[in-house]
Amino acid sequence: MKVLLVGGGGREHSLGWKIAQSPLLTQLYLAPGNPGLNRLGEPTGVSADDIDAIVMTARRHGVDLVVVGPEATLAAGLADRLAQASIPCFGPSAGAAALESSKSYMKEIATAVGAPTAAYARFTEAAAARNYLRTQKAPFVVKADGLAAGKGVFIAETLTEADAAVDDLLGGALGAAGREIVIEEFLDGEEASFFVIADGKTSVPLIAVQDHKRAFDGDKGPNTGGMGAYSPAPVFTDAIHDQTMKKIIEPVIAEMARRGRPFKGVLFAGLMICEDGPKLIEFNVRFGDPECQVMMRLMQSDILPVLHAAATGALKPGELEWSRDACALIVMAANGYPGAYAKGSTIAGIERAEACDGVVVFHAGTKMRDGALIADGGRVLNITARGHTIRDAVERAYRGVGEIDWSDGFYRRDIAWRALKAFL
Ligand code: AMP
Ligand code: GLY
Repeated sequence: MKVLLVGGGGREHSLGWKIAQSPLLTQLYLAPGNPGLNRLGEPTGVSADDIDAIVMTARRHGVDLVVVGPEATLAAGLADRLAQASIPCFGPSAGAAALESSKSYMKEIATAVGAPTAAYARFTEAAAARNYLRTQKAPFVVKADGLAAGKGVFIAETLTEADAAVDDLLGGALGAAGREIVIEEFLDGEEASFFVIADGKTSVPLIAVQDHKRAFDGDKGPNTGGMGAYSPAPVFTDAIHDQTMKKIIEPVIAEMARRGRPFKGVLFAGLMICEDGPKLIEFNVRFGDPECQVMMRLMQSDILPVLHAAATGALKPGELEWSRDACALIVMAANGYPGAYAKGSTIAGIERAEACDGVVVFHAGTKMRDGALIADGGRVLNITARGHTIRDAVERAYRGVGEIDWSDGFYRRDIAWRALKAFL
């Protein structure tokens, strides 16, 4: 099978790493790839957001499957274009990607099927939004409706802060993404990310992963794309798994099919595990980054037939096989991230890190310059490790981090603290 993989971050490196282990793979093409991925396949020079070039490249190489990492190209209609060209695509149509690209669409679907989610109201006028806030209790949750790369959510302790978020968003701070806003009930609990692969009608569960969204130790500092992750997630018990499938995933997949927007690809449910069960915070229509990296390290089944079956509507119900090990991932990020940061400092020691027991390193924001590996993004490296327990996995991952020689980066030193505390 010839596969074209779209994207060039840590998520895509781990997907490529797993796909490359499939005996069914004959050639892996990359759009655009990264220095880690490029050793596993053939870079095409095509960027992840160039829909025309992706379709042309897929056609030229006669690929059997396009696997899409990032959401922006899906929301812009990559899967629809590939469908017109009769090229199987792992990733939803723009219509189905609205589950992520429009918070109010996600809420409409969740409400239609009675899936547990925070109570909400939507607004385009600041005055109406402010009035509504005054009927609610703190903390206030104010969100941009559209895709805002993690910058569209404000959790405000006071009405003054909440009003400011409303004014900023509706005043155009995030452009079109904030033209409409959603104000919702604050959910109290522990978060987990849960994933299923779907082919439009059937869904197959993956596993739950917990990540750390804040930049600094103790879950302090600004929100990021994720600073570390681990699985298993102790908070995601079998009972929570069953409730999530029955009350959220299965009804939503059925409702999307009923509305003529069948969901194909990976559905990522951001959940709050509350005292009375799982509640849906958000959907994403792609693998999580860095959650994907953890899942790829623990998946025993061959992923390629599953991705192809999902893309072609041939998914069989059932479970995939997973290692009984735990996996931990530490993100090494550029100083300053998620704010402004410098690029271009050299990185060494990846081979030494990978010589540590259980360690695999995925590149997230790196680049080759004059034969040397340099930092080229906010999140730069993902150090993953497997171990028999979460504690083992975490210790091994930090041993790997210790081998990396990079002066311009930082990382959190408390990845998986909740899980480690739960086992004390
Ligand atoms: P989102 O982009 O919708 O996932 O929101 C980003 C983060 O904000 C989530 O991962 C949560 O930590 C937090 N968050 C979003 N909505 C709520 C809510 N209703 N209650 C509590 N926390 C929330
Ligand atoms: N790590 C969270 C995300 O991928 O959105």
